[in-house]
Amino acid sequence: MKIMEKLQREVFEQFERYGQMQVFRFWDILNSDERLSLCRQAGRIDLTRFSEIVRSFLDKEKSSLIDPKVPILPASYIALPSDETSHCRWEDAYNLGEQILHEGRIAVFTAAGGQGTRLNFEGPKGTFAVTPIKGKSLFQVFAEKIRFAEKRYGHPIHWFIMTSDRNHNETIEFFGKNNSFALANVYFIRQGQLPAIDMQGKIMLEDKYRIAMHPNGHGGAFKAFVAGGGSAILEAEGINMISYFQVDNPLVRVLDPHFIGFHEKNNSQMSSRMVWKHYPEERMGVFCSIYGRSAVIEYTDLPAAYATECDRNGTLRFRAGNTGIHIFNSDFFRLLGNETSGRHLPLHVAKKKIPTIDEDGKIIDPEISNGIKFEAFIFDALQFAERSIIVEGNRREIFTPIKNAIGLDSPETCRQDQVRLFSKWLVQAGSDIPLDATGCPPFNIEISPLFADNERDFLIKWNQMEQPPPIAPGSYIGP
Ligand code: UD1
Repeated sequence: MKIMEKLQREVFEQFERYGQMQVFRFWDILNSDERLSLCRQAGRIDLTRFSEIVRSFLDKEKSSLIDPKVPILPASYIALPSDETSHCRWEDAYNLGEQILHEGRIAVFTAAGGQGTRLNFEGPKGTFAVTPIKGKSLFQVFAEKIRFAEKRYGHPIHWFIMTSDRNHNETIEFFGKNNSFALANVYFIRQGQLPAIDMQGKIMLEDKYRIAMHPNGHGGAFKAFVAGGGSAILEAEGINMISYFQVDNPLVRVLDPHFIGFHEKNNSQMSSRMVWKHYPEERMGVFCSIYGRSAVIEYTDLPAAYATECDRNGTLRFRAGNTGIHIFNSDFFRLLGNETSGRHLPLHVAKKKIPTIDEDGKIIDPEISNGIKFEAFIFDALQFAERSIIVEGNRREIFTPIKNAIGLDSPETCRQDQVRLFSKWLVQAGSDIPLDATGCPPFNIEISPLFADNERDFLIKWNQMEQPPPIAPGSYIGP
């Protein structure tokens, strides 16, 4: 009882100081379990910092992350190879990347804390079936890429998966059911949460004894990783790089020797993979340079004048699209995850429909935006990186995210992109496959990442086969 009283006193004092006592407005009718639950939830919020965030949101001037007076330029990047010199540079990077992989100096991190709202999918997005023949889940595809790399480089690879409160248990259950896809070093890191506020800056309730909380954005990765013991594992294992990617893209090269090599060669703290945007309105962040430092400006924040601006050849000036694929130095990751380092990512504001309760405690499911969510974005870490690089990628080979249920970036476009890529490798290997004008065959085929996850490795393996199998509709190449 004493403990509860102490907790209540401390929490009430804090919430009183910051004008957020409405959170406890049903206190008198709550039972003791509900009171304890609410106090515990409230006590976990760093209200001092959160109040600064709320203040700056209410102060319109400061809440704009883009200062119209600051000149924005396209970012510089390492282009795909086009001549002998650049081919040599890419080959050197590849060899260096392979060396690092052989030394076992890199771990994998997947941001999987978001919800598949636009996809209309209830479960964790990583459990969504994506491959054209076997219907493997996104998680299985990544797991097979990791297993392939473990075998090839002779090292166990540590895989950190960031979940959120909304999908943590389900994600763990899914891995349990699938025996972790035969991987021994999978860790689940739960990202933090932030309260939602109403338009007046007041923290909202989702129930009489529950604050409306939501995941704090993939920028929460740093703190969650350090708090969840990730840094300590890397340190103990002598791993100094992290290959980071989003859960929605089955073509990602989970461990790409070229990218790893460029990261190392440039002594980069944070490296990013970019592909060209297809059209101005495409929902991709763009890489820019602001005061000589690289940055990503999210599609929702990029002023239309920049998004549509073309150069003399009619090419979009800001078309270097963010794939959400990065390599981090583990020291840099740890620094940003350290609560006391003073390096806090800015928070982006999104107006949302937030289920809440009215003054009588009745549940309201709003039809229009009634509140604000705050999210930190991983790419904002660029502003703290003294050394960073951007490396171009071939979009057809590394990027086909699943975002929407139909249309662009949907399961159907993702299937086509996978089949198109597998066909390209087979054609390079001498197979005779009918292709339409976009390079797609009229049927499904699938190549398992356990066989190869890129053209180079595929050709080596295929050419080593005594009798490669005939390719027909429904062909699956894999163990
Ligand atoms: C994201 C990028 C955009 C990029 C595009 C490429 C952001 C804000 N924008 O857009 O610049 O061009 O991908 O595909 O990321 N996630 C978490 N925790 C969260 C929120 C999200 O782990 O709290 C994960 C999701 O599971 C997903 C990824 O982050 O894997 C991206 O989130 P999403 O909301 O899909 O971003 P997009 O708007 O698609």
